[in-house]
Amino acid sequence: MTVIQALKARQVLDSRGRPTVEVDAIAATGEVGRAIVPSGASTGRHEALELRDADSARYGGLGVARAVENVRSTIAPAIVGMRLDDQRGIDEALIALDGSLNKGRLGANAVLGVSLAVAHAAAAVHGEELYVHLNRLWRDRAAEARGEIPVEPSLPMPMVNMISGGLHAGKNLDIQDILMIPIGAETYEQALEMIVAVYRAVGTVLAKLGLESVLVGDEGGYGPRLESNERAFEVVVEAITACGLVPGRDAALAVDVASTHFFDESTGTYKISDAGPQPLDAAGMVDLMAGWVERYPIVSIEDGLAEDDWNGWRLLTERLGSKVQLIGDDLFVTQTARLERGVRLGAANSILIKVNQVGTLSETLDALLMARQHGYRPVVSARSGETEDATIADLAVATAAGQIKIGSVARSERLAKYNRLLRIEEFLGPNAPFAARAALG
Ligand code: PGA
Ligand code: ZN
Repeated sequence: MTVIQALKARQVLDSRGRPTVEVDAIAATGEVGRAIVPSGASTGRHEALELRDADSARYGGLGVARAVENVRSTIAPAIVGMRLDDQRGIDEALIALDGSLNKGRLGANAVLGVSLAVAHAAAAVHGEELYVHLNRLWRDRAAEARGEIPVEPSLPMPMVNMISGGLHAGKNLDIQDILMIPIGAETYEQALEMIVAVYRAVGTVLAKLGLESVLVGDEGGYGPRLESNERAFEVVVEAITACGLVPGRDAALAVDVASTHFFDESTGTYKISDAGPQPLDAAGMVDLMAGWVERYPIVSIEDGLAEDDWNGWRLLTERLGSKVQLIGDDLFVTQTARLERGVRLGAANSILIKVNQVGTLSETLDALLMARQHGYRPVVSARSGETEDATIADLAVATAAGQIKIGSVARSERLAKYNRLLRIEEFLGPNAPFAARAALG
């Protein structure tokens, strides 16, 4: 396998018009691999650090010139000459070069841009689709691990943002996403068609109610001002029915509560409008969510409790863990140390996988592997700030993750991934494996 001849890095813009890092990894044989780093808005405290310039004269302080410079002057000299298919060795070198606990020295954005660009370049050298190359890396990892790890490439079941709230839509609702999962779909293509139908129907229902039905949030979901979070569930259920689908049989609901942003650390309570003016403690939140699960066809709840509320998470998992998928996003931040703690305590039963929460491809595979070994269902996820880069579509297929969360079926930074999955479906042939409902356990 050929070696890395050069790295190029530059500042480009993401879907919110904010600077982000793009890296080109150039093979000695001339092939180029390119990756662009995504960026969150409701970021967890324990995520790897995204290095920003803090120079208020440029892009309001959000520039990433320092991260770009770190690729050029620190990372490139160390990585050039390494074998392109040695993803693990390269990622370990990146981690050592940074030397900090949260990749704050070089910036997780600099590190991740290189890590992913290397994978793209290696795939190009092999003359393979990215998911084929990533699948080989995944198989290698699975072979070293104990337990039954799924390794056959398969198309993920999407969970799709319909109504946006929280920090992605001006805090119109407390909850960040109300999502739909087309659980009745038998192929990815069919899932996508159902998603588009329901998404449109949500717009129609909102328009009938005289609510905002055109303008969308950061992830493409509608951003109406509804009087309660539950009202949003009702709207999506009505939209599902309007499409001739049966809620709970053909299409189910999912929620990303993203509760850390309305958690008050000093009192250990949650301020959510459904409960009235009185804030709720963790047990009160668990009761509230248990009520939702009873009244609506909800099959998945993400970040129902705050990122460090471990006792609350244990309670939530005891109460609802056998009924619904409980995803840790800010809780686990794609990091094995946090996931290990969750496994030990019995917190959550599923993990969101975001490449930039940890900062290298190899550590992302570590988190996926640990999740599989402990029966935690992985959901590969985009960020609210995205680009045309569709690496996560290939990652989800290659690791047979089973589920993917990209945002809505609006805005091309989202569609780049949905469309990439359509192409992969074609590559996989007429009986392309699709995770379907089974992905949710
Ligand atoms: P973020 O949101 O990318 O803004 O962090 C996505 C999520 O919370 O799942
Ligand atoms: Zn989340």
